Amino acid sequence: MCGIIGYAGYRQATDVLVQGLRRLEYRGYDSSGVAVSEADGTLQVVKSAGRIDRLAARLEGAAVMGHVGIGHTRWATHGPATDENAHPHFGGSHDLVVVHNGVIENYRSIKDRLQGLGYRFESATDTEAIAHLLHSCLEDALGTEDGGLAVEPESDNYAPLVDAVRAALAQLQGTYGLAVMFRRCPGVILVARLGSPLVVGVGDHEHYLASDASCLAGYTDQIVYLADHELAVITADELRVEHRDQGHVSHNVHTLDFQQGDVDLVGYDHYMLKEIHEQTETLRNTMRGRLSVDEATAHFGGLNLTTRQLRGMERIVLTACGTSYHAALVGEYMIEEFARMPVEVEYASELRYRNPPLDNRTLLFAITQSGETADTLAALREVKRKGHPTLAICNVVGSTIAQEADGGIYLHAGPEIGVASTKAFTSQCVALAMLALYFGRLRHLSFGAGLRIIEQLHQLPTAVAQALRTNDVVQRIARKYHRCRNFLYLGRQYNYPVALEGALKLKEISYIHAEGYPAAEMKHGPIALVDEHTPSVFILPRGTVYDKVMSNLEEIKARGGPVIAVVNEGDTHVAGLADDIIEVPAVEDFLQPIVTTIPLQLLAYHIAVMRECDVDKPRNLAKSVTVE
Ligand code: AGP
Repeated sequence: MCGIIGYAGYRQATDVLVQGLRRLEYRGYDSSGVAVSEADGTLQVVKSAGRIDRLAARLEGAAVMGHVGIGHTRWATHGPATDENAHPHFGGSHDLVVVHNGVIENYRSIKDRLQGLGYRFESATDTEAIAHLLHSCLEDALGTEDGGLAVEPESDNYAPLVDAVRAALAQLQGTYGLAVMFRRCPGVILVARLGSPLVVGVGDHEHYLASDASCLAGYTDQIVYLADHELAVITADELRVEHRDQGHVSHNVHTLDFQQGDVDLVGYDHYMLKEIHEQTETLRNTMRGRLSVDEATAHFGGLNLTTRQLRGMERIVLTACGTSYHAALVGEYMIEEFARMPVEVEYASELRYRNPPLDNRTLLFAITQSGETADTLAALREVKRKGHPTLAICNVVGSTIAQEADGGIYLHAGPEIGVASTKAFTSQCVALAMLALYFGRLRHLSFGAGLRIIEQLHQLPTAVAQALRTNDVVQRIARKYHRCRNFLYLGRQYNYPVALEGALKLKEISYIHAEGYPAAEMKHGPIALVDEHTPSVFILPRGTVYDKVMSNLEEIKARGGPVIAVVNEGDTHVAGLADDIIEVPAVEDFLQPIVTTIPLQLLAYHIAVMRECDVDKPRNLAKSVTVE
């Protein structure tokens, strides 16, 4: 939540900042702003409530020139989305500016104290408390009256700035990724992180700062990940990393493998549609190099636990939020089926406080696209603190959860920018299928059974490509139902999590109320909602519970509810009963969620477009939920 961008180099800073903010807009999009250090050190701030286009329009008229700057796109936590609450915020009398991602829990007491000292606050944000606190710490460090700082931008002279930042950080409770610029020290950006992601991009006589490395595509692929409690001093030619308490630390530069096309729309109207259509390829990427026909199992390079340790595990806990939680439910079915190991799936927000009994042969997997979700991170830390091995299934390389877990599996699905998760979900499911195969083969699954699973996994991308061809049919169905106010999504067994996911997709981008239910459970309450205006989406491919779900479908029809059914190709039986059918290719039960979810993603997408909703940036949401 909230995106930070920064630049120090030879380009016009606003060009880089606005481009970076557009790419980071998925992290929050209720307001945005930039601060640029002009040649004489003056800090120019331009900000605006609303989308980046409004900021860009303001910048056009403002002629802000300079080669060093910071920017921010906001997801409001304290105070509504107004110009005043947009970042950056000034500290003192325009002596410094701050952008911040995170939540400062004790900002009110800091604010009260600073107001007592004469500081005037212009916003309702917690961030402005950091800005004025920094100014007051700077005054203390320098012993001057006006916060004056006559240092040249040379590394040795940054010490007073770093000291002031350290002193301020020591007083903050909560989380922050923050960047600061000082009027008296043009050319320098100081950054710090605790609990909110920040990376530094290294270029040729230039440095970048970002909440997410992928937004630097096309500028640099040389990335330094800052860890919690680290600070960095950034100029065009220097990057110096310090630990908040331990002084200078060396840093590693990682080369990231991303292309400009990963973060551009490449002809699609929306990122969500692009990402839906990428799934044939992203699934291949998730599986690439991980399936061994010779051993009839899966291999993972980064689990960082020995086969013996993994073989000794007797229980798995999967924890996640939102769509990732739905993937975890799919994983539960897969692992229990193939490995016969008990699996528990728990919302991370519950697990972090619930203190469930975990014996010493329990392995935790945190499942997360972003690797930054606050609740998932907290659950992982809590379980790790108790001494259990913790692994992550994660998409974003170098993210906090990826770094803090003992090991894990990267999805390699490429940046997911649409707020509604699509390709990450299917990649999570396929990673979990491979994990189920792996644990199965460690235990009782035969060579032949392992091989059959691999064959089915190899055929999956083709089935997904076929499922994507339902687009036109789905669009027609969307036209018919897009004005409905309630939807039910119903499925059983492997398709129960798909029902939950289909409903989540619809509600988050089209603002239509939708509920996902196990199909048979529907008659214990939700059936009361059924009428001629409430469509039920049945996920009903052939498989072990096909006949059972058919009965549930008939129960809905008997009550006059319209039925949209996702079925296997050639299913004339359902075609005779349902009002609308979407045909997908038949695959084994365990792979059905990956295929049947495709038309549901498309259905949500087309309905949202027809309702003129902002598909990629739905109201009130943000891509990575870094607050509790
Ligand atoms: C999905 O469409 C959502 N936007 C949301 O539920 C998301 O899956 C959830 O916030 C978890 O995110 P993560 O996978 O990055 O941890």
